[in-house]
Amino acid sequence: MPAVDILQIKKNLKTSRFGQAIHFEPSIDSTNNWALSGIDFGAKCGEVFLTDFQTRGHGRQDRVWESTKGKNILMSLIDEAPRDSGKIFQLTLVAGVAFQEALASLFPSLDIQLKWPNDLLVYPEREKQVERVKGKKLAGILCEKHSSRPTAVIGVGINVNSTEKDFSEPVGGLAASLTLQIGSPVNREEVISACLNAYEKWRKEYDRFGLNPIRTAWLEKTDMMGKKVRVIEGEKIVEGTVNDLDKDGFLVVDGKKVISGDVIIL
Ligand code: BTN
Repeated sequence: MPAVDILQIKKNLKTSRFGQAIHFEPSIDSTNNWALSGIDFGAKCGEVFLTDFQTRGHGRQDRVWESTKGKNILMSLIDEAPRDSGKIFQLTLVAGVAFQEALASLFPSLDIQLKWPNDLLVYPEREKQVERVKGKKLAGILCEKHSSRPTAVIGVGINVNSTEKDFSEPVGGLAASLTLQIGSPVNREEVISACLNAYEKWRKEYDRFGLNPIRTAWLEKTDMMGKKVRVIEGEKIVEGTVNDLDKDGFLVVDGKKVISGDVIIL
């Protein structure tokens, strides 16, 4: 696969901020780490860091994020952190809504749903679906704050052109890619531009109106409501039914707020 083409990305950008500066390295430890250290060297909000391969790609709870060289999207954006540092996590929801919207509009045949807090799942094509089966992970978002500045990095990994053999066990059964879903190769540059356009749009909404419109959109883009889930918060494991996403962006399970942890849809 050829390296990601920055000019192609820029051709479809409608943003004034996100993606106006794009940095690319064929291989890096992690685009989130790269963006976080870039901030120390003067990188500004809106700058984008892309690679074709990560040697230390990571997700929430320090899990490894695997991605075959040159096939997928490994991208981090620099953004202003909300003034209240407790709200940084809300940028994950902003990004989720934006990236779901971008992917759903590029690939209307796919059923892409948000899973709290930071996943995009894809379900088998609606028309082929006989009964509800489990969604597979298409993308993950990792939002991290800079250690001393009011700046955040939004990292996203999107499985674009990975094939079955690119996924290692045990990830294989739980992961999906756009190409596996639609059955043909996917242009990464188009997906990146669409994601940046959508992120800028939803970030402006968040700036103007706070979490409320994001929450409404998030609820429209998830099928978690009313589902039974297992929530693992450290040693604590509880099972219950998802009732809501509260006004601060926390999941509500059996009337109780879930602040962090892993949520498994049962
Ligand atoms: C998760 O599922 O827990 C989040 C995964 C986030 C992975 C992306 S890939 C680009 C960026 N760089 C990283 O090291 N992580 C994020």
